Amino acid sequence: MAEIGLFEAMYTARAIRRIKTDPVPDEIISKVLDAAIRAPSGSNAQSWVFIVVKDAEKRKQLGALYQKTSGILLKLYEGAKPPPHMDPAKYERWWRSVLYLFDHMGEAPVLIVPCLKATTFSGAASLPDDIKARMAGAARLAGSSIYPAVQNIILACRAFGLGTVLTTIHAFYEEEVRQILNLPPDVQSYALMPVGYPKGKHGPISRKPVSEVACLDSYGKPWPG
Ligand SMILES: Cc1cc2nc3c(=O)[nH]c(=O)nc-3n(C[C@H](O)[C@H](O)[C@H](O)COP(=O)(O)O)c2cc1C
Repeated sequence: MAEIGLFEAMYTARAIRRIKTDPVPDEIISKVLDAAIRAPSGSNAQSWVFIVVKDAEKRKQLGALYQKTSGILLKLYEGAKPPPHMDPAKYERWWRSVLYLFDHMGEAPVLIVPCLKATTFSGAASLPDDIKARMAGAARLAGSSIYPAVQNIILACRAFGLGTVLTTIHAFYEEEVRQILNLPPDVQSYALMPVGYPKGKHGPISRKPVSEVACLDSYGKPWPG
């Protein structure tokens, strides 16, 4: 297929939740993963593991778990109104597509589960307690060593004409996911991504403008560009 440019990929790799059941060749998935592993990671540790789930029974099990999360999500979004940047019709379309995925996650021919092994630092034990506390406070940054790879997966899928979407709510059933995928204790999953040929079309992506979200030098001072 014809190559697309980087910016075209970034501007059109929208969330694809309606995915055909047609198989995806392993060579293409290998190329997607080869793009994933070009991503940066803290200390260049590359402690990632990408579990490619093709087995129909495991996809069904993960799909059933994902469907179970819908109960939690429906509660979370009860009475929610469209955010100011989304007009009601767009919000409705987004919501319908989110609901669709709850019923069809397991039907995607491939599910990719990006995981990270916990990082251990040899000198950590000898650090003073106040530094240990600071490090514990920074635990929220753990995902920064896997999400750049996840974005590479999204872009590489786009380049190969595949659709995918980053989802994270499988984490509500983390224990069950661990069992299905046989994850060892020091490995955690960070996303559940259906991958396959899209039923609809890619892009274009619309977002709040840069002028609304960028600042110069300090919070609240708009970026003039
Ligand atoms: C951290 C994160 C979690 C997400 N979780 C879900 C999810 O559980 N289910 C889902 O359908 N989409 C999920 N998404 C996809 C977003 O809804 C999507 O990226 C966003 O609506 C923008 O879509 P667009 O690129 O098509 O405009 C998630 C995205 C991110 C970044």
